[in-house]
Amino acid sequence: MLEAKHCVGCRQLNDPRYEQLEELIARYKSQKGALIPVLHEAQEIFGYLPEEVQRRVADGLDIPLSEVYGVATFYSLFSLKPRGKHKIGVCLGTACYVRGAGAILAELEKELDIKVNDTTPDGKFTLEVTRCIGACGLAPVMTIDEDVFGRLTPERIKDILARY
Ligand code: FES
Repeated sequence: MLEAKHCVGCRQLNDPRYEQLEELIARYKSQKGALIPVLHEAQEIFGYLPEEVQRRVADGLDIPLSEVYGVATFYSLFSLKPRGKHKIGVCLGTACYVRGAGAILAELEKELDIKVNDTTPDGKFTLEVTRCIGACGLAPVMTIDEDVFGRLTPERIKDILARY
């Protein structure tokens, strides 16, 4: 009879991403300093680092789960939550802040009905804040993926979101 902990694995047998993960771990297994590149590639496969992925990386590289979790939470590059298709970044650098970035952020939270660092339930948008992105002349500024929007007002937010 199967133990409960194996049943989780059974369900994931049909998910080809876990096969890719096992191949990835096998490729790095004997290398020093493998953890960060493995997590990086694992995040490319899954879009984020769910607990089961962290567990398999820990088992595969033979390091404590707490160490994997520590690295995954330390670097902002890694995400423990699912990410949306489009990433919104609201600049909260000084120039943007004094020109009303707070109101832009509040409007986005209202319009998307989520808080900072969350993703809309349909998986479309993830809302984040950033530091200065070097476009202070256009403050307040936000980015959506590679696109930059400047001289923002809360009134423009709805139209901009509708383009995605
Ligand atoms: S402070 Fe926002 S772009 Fe520089």
